[in-house]
Amino acid sequence: MPTRLAVLISGNGSNLQAILDAIRLRIIDAQVVLVVSNRKDAFGLERAQKAGVPTAYHPLKPYTDAGRSREEYDGALAEIVAAVRPDLVVLAGWMHILSNAFLNRFPFRVLNLHPALPGAFPGPDAIQDALEAFERGEIRRTGVMVHLVTNEEVDAGPVLLSEEVYIYSNDTLETLEKRIHQVEHKLIVRAIIRMMEGDE
Ligand code: GRF
Repeated sequence: MPTRLAVLISGNGSNLQAILDAIRLRIIDAQVVLVVSNRKDAFGLERAQKAGVPTAYHPLKPYTDAGRSREEYDGALAEIVAAVRPDLVVLAGWMHILSNAFLNRFPFRVLNLHPALPGAFPGPDAIQDALEAFERGEIRRTGVMVHLVTNEEVDAGPVLLSEEVYIYSNDTLETLEKRIHQVEHKLIVRAIIRMMEGDE
């Protein structure tokens, strides 16, 4: 039976696309059973629809406007995701920090992709932060990691895979981002394979 993947996105979805392509090319025996976005305009939703994958839109704003908690938002998100019985939940550019109200529903089955090396640059501007550290002469390389999300700490948790990406003196944010995304698209598929192998 193909591994059932639920993928959470907030934007372009190029990593979702890498997963969909790997499935189409039979690199992984998996099925994306649901794509959830917190943003209606996420291009990743179009990618999912083109691939015939069911999508869900789960915005945070109605909860905050109604004075409802993050736990309520995350609990409702967990219900949406649990309904498709995922074997793995992949955070591929999901911009919200998930509370235990979500994580506790999928113990050791939530993967997060982050464009930095373990412990280096947590948060939403990891690539920019790495470039600035390089320009200050503090680092020569950054990287990408995929880790299990086992608690509410941002971009932390047991690391499944990581890969270094060297920074060049003529790099701009765009050139560095491009190289990092190319590594991400391979690493996210390899991390899913790693988790599937672990299921044997
Ligand atoms: C990736 O850089 C990912 O590591 C980060 O957000 C970005 C998502 O890119 N968390 P995409 O939406 O998959 O193209």
